Amino acid sequence: MIYKDLQISTQQASKLALEKFGIAGKAALLPGEVDFNFKINTQKGNYILKISRPGVDTAYLDFQQKILLHVGDTDKVTPYPRVVMDLEGNAMAKFKDASGRERFVRLLTWVEGRVWSQVNPQTSVLRYKLGILGGKLTQALLDFSHPSAHRDFEWDVAQSLWTQQYLHLFQPEEQEILAYFQNRFQKNLPIYNTLRKSVVHNDANDNNIIVSHGLKDPQVKTVIDFGDAVHTQTINDLAVACAYAILHHKNPLDAALPLISGYHQSFSLWEEELPHLYDLIAMRLVISVTKSAMNKLKEPGNTYLLISEKPAWQLLKKWYTIHPDFAHFSFRKACGYQPHPEQKAFEQWAQQNSIGLSELFPSEIRHKAYPLDLSVSSTWLGHQQDFEDIHYFNYRIERLLQKHPDRIPAGGYLEPRTVYTSPTYDQIGNQGRESRTIHLGLDFWLPEDTAVHTVLDGEVIIVENDAGYKEYGGLVVLKHQTKAFEFYTLYGHLSVQSVTNLKLGQKLKKGDRIGYLGNITENGNWSPHLHFQVMLSLLGNKTDFPGVAYAREADIWKSICPDPNTLFQLKNLGTTNSIANKELLAQRKKHLGKSLSLSYNEPIKIVRGAGAYLLDPYGNKYLDTVNNVAHVGHEHPAVVKAGQEQMALLNTNSRYLHENIVTLAQALIATLPKELSILHFVNSGSEANELAIRMVKAATGQKDIIASEVGYHGNSNTCIDISSYKFDGKGGNGAPEHTHIFPLPDAFRGKYRGADTGGQYAQEVQKLVKSIQKQGRGVGALIVEPIISCGGQIELPKGFLSQAYAYVRKAGGLCISDEVQVGCGRPGTTFWGFQLHGVVPDIVTIGKPLGNGHPVAAVACTANVAEKFANGMEYFNTFGGNPVSCAIGTAVLKTIRTEKLQQNAKEIGGFLKRGLQQLAQKFPIIGEVRGEGFFLGFELVDTSLRPLPDQTEYLVNRMKEHFILMSSDGPDHNVIKIKPPMVFNKANAEELLCYLEKILGEDYMQIR
Ligand SMILES: Cc1ncc(COP(=O)(O)O)c(C=O)c1O
Repeated sequence: MIYKDLQISTQQASKLALEKFGIAGKAALLPGEVDFNFKINTQKGNYILKISRPGVDTAYLDFQQKILLHVGDTDKVTPYPRVVMDLEGNAMAKFKDASGRERFVRLLTWVEGRVWSQVNPQTSVLRYKLGILGGKLTQALLDFSHPSAHRDFEWDVAQSLWTQQYLHLFQPEEQEILAYFQNRFQKNLPIYNTLRKSVVHNDANDNNIIVSHGLKDPQVKTVIDFGDAVHTQTINDLAVACAYAILHHKNPLDAALPLISGYHQSFSLWEEELPHLYDLIAMRLVISVTKSAMNKLKEPGNTYLLISEKPAWQLLKKWYTIHPDFAHFSFRKACGYQPHPEQKAFEQWAQQNSIGLSELFPSEIRHKAYPLDLSVSSTWLGHQQDFEDIHYFNYRIERLLQKHPDRIPAGGYLEPRTVYTSPTYDQIGNQGRESRTIHLGLDFWLPEDTAVHTVLDGEVIIVENDAGYKEYGGLVVLKHQTKAFEFYTLYGHLSVQSVTNLKLGQKLKKGDRIGYLGNITENGNWSPHLHFQVMLSLLGNKTDFPGVAYAREADIWKSICPDPNTLFQLKNLGTTNSIANKELLAQRKKHLGKSLSLSYNEPIKIVRGAGAYLLDPYGNKYLDTVNNVAHVGHEHPAVVKAGQEQMALLNTNSRYLHENIVTLAQALIATLPKELSILHFVNSGSEANELAIRMVKAATGQKDIIASEVGYHGNSNTCIDISSYKFDGKGGNGAPEHTHIFPLPDAFRGKYRGADTGGQYAQEVQKLVKSIQKQGRGVGALIVEPIISCGGQIELPKGFLSQAYAYVRKAGGLCISDEVQVGCGRPGTTFWGFQLHGVVPDIVTIGKPLGNGHPVAAVACTANVAEKFANGMEYFNTFGGNPVSCAIGTAVLKTIRTEKLQQNAKEIGGFLKRGLQQLAQKFPIIGEVRGEGFFLGFELVDTSLRPLPDQTEYLVNRMKEHFILMSSDGPDHNVIKIKPPMVFNKANAEELLCYLEKILGEDYMQIR
């Protein structure tokens, strides 16, 4: 039969829809593998017309219609395609085609939406919703039967062993993977065959799942195409859905879990089904790649086949590296079962077989534990530089041992730790960078050479020198057998010598010596201690076993590695739980003012800073692109040390002679033009601007201030009065009498646009000068930031500042540069922002960056202004200029110099800006990229330059989900501000650009 003879024209299709079903509409051809499919568009709704080939199996067609009728009747909520009866009340109609052959025609309702493959991102929430829907469908089909559902079918996972005959089509390394899964499936077949069966959809692939059009929070609407339905093991339906939904994910196991969770919510999976799921997902992929290989043989030139099999192979290769038991335990967790089936049994056994510490360390006189907190937020642990100094750490442990002669410093089970600084603890997951931080063992901190004995009879199953930085060093794992189950105990950080005395397979009796604690040089570079861990499964490990897990997987690991203290039952060794976010939120609500806001839809708790990163209590590291306060990097060691050291000596007001205040003054003056030679120290940016305005009043006798639209200068009364960002914003009452606002000099979307707007905006300042004078008053000052931060990182147009300064000065006013955000090397090419514009202000206010998080700020001014300010009234500030703040400020300025951070801002800021400009080329939603050095911004707009605040908020929150902190600002909340700690390096910038590209590619960020 020639294909042409079978074809049906769109006119014929429209006619058939009308004649057979009474539906008048326009037909459009759709792709179809077997049937000829047409979309029938009508005013009232759309349909799909399916015309079969001649000689089709009518029983199969009947099966197709009955299954749709059944799910439609059983689940009236889900919009499955509905069967439209023909005019005679039948589920399908017949007609004779042009060649006189009998053909069957069916009409189904059309489901509006997009197919899964078109959805970006396919988030875990979406996969959870898919699971819910999949489970509902399985449930709906549970009592459906049809003779045609019992069939030989190559896509039925239960029948997948046919693929074994085609192994020869693959390369040897591919054969190894395929055979691994085939053999596992075959071995488990007898049990698998006993699992419950039903008719299942069997084809929830990316083009059969319909998702709503909503781009921000899409819904999974339904599943279409029941053509592959078959009677088989019920769990196969979930396996098929997983096999497709986890393609293209870095960590496919992690991607599968929400889907499984959702599925189990609407259709309860049995515990005995779950051990098979790993193999079934794999076998669906094995069928898929085998089919592709066969098709390639048939059509060697078809490159599409190569493209479609690639993701399946990528997934199979990753799946192969996942241990089946770990997958099984993860699936159990996703379904709310205890992850390791023997966890309870172990805990009960351990409670009845408790062990004293003297059995583990018989040579020790200490038999009690001293709880040692090494968690991320532990103040005992202190600064990274301190705990990384192994000898210092060791000294502190020795001091603890001396101070508590009857106790062993111990603890750490499930403790989130930040001490694993080796890159082997990091990986890239589905949501960006992640680190292993959750400690799975119990540590006992005792001197090197302390003897360690086995606490139970056992067999040596691993004995290794696990050499390397932050590894175990000497490592022994013993296997123990109880009547009901077996388990393992792990002894890490032993001396290499003692380990080599043991042999694999050697049987040890309770009380036998295993070895001695190793020293720093051989135990992975740790202060001497024993890492003692219990495992209920080895997960295929033969020479090592992880002692630390990803926080994301903590619940699974804690079941595989139960608390060793169930054996020892030592008191006060519970895990240190930091206060949960929910509780903190409630406490904030109760005790703090409502106007204090939190960042992000789901606020995060931060307990530690390190360089360009902020860490949450689980040790998750967020890349910080927001905090210009931590100017030289969070908790910079030199700054911390300067503060700690001075704090230990003296902190008092500035009425005594002390070096620190003059040292800082000299260091700061050295960065400024010679005209700005006098300093006053204060504690915050607000205080600096407050003082600056006081100086203006004293020096000029005037109180009229000219400031920028959407400018922000601080939280005090006077500062609010000159901050349009506040008084023109929510809760504000507009400009006070003596404040005069010129339009935001935004050359992209402001009053004047394009190149050369500096003169026009300066004229606006001049207009204000004139208007003040017209009222018979004089100009006090102009205050403006050199790049307007809250205004949306607005770079002042060329020539604006010098001209505006000239107008103001001519009227007798002073010029203030608010450098609270921009100063201290951040512009890159210059140290101060005003230097970008070739001007010298009369007053410069300095805040945030100077203390690297500590409240220290300053006002620099000319000798003339200072002279007039000193009118007899004393200037006293309790904290301003105290020795601690000054020590810190000096350390910050020194660090900027020694670490060449201004140069870094220029180079990496430039690199980042170029990268953002490239993104702007690719993603039209970025209207403009602007800024200097490490004070950058980009603006999100539609094609008519309308601001897109919702998309901006979406981007910020999505980036946070990828462990990158960003913030937005601007009058329309559509500008992303980038002002990271100045230690931000090229790798940080690349990571930022990489995830920006990912999120900017998502559906919600596309503008039309
Ligand atoms: C430009 C500018 N000036 C002054 C201030 C006030 O500084 P502080 O919050 O330290 O009082 C801020 C704070 O964000 C600011 O951005």
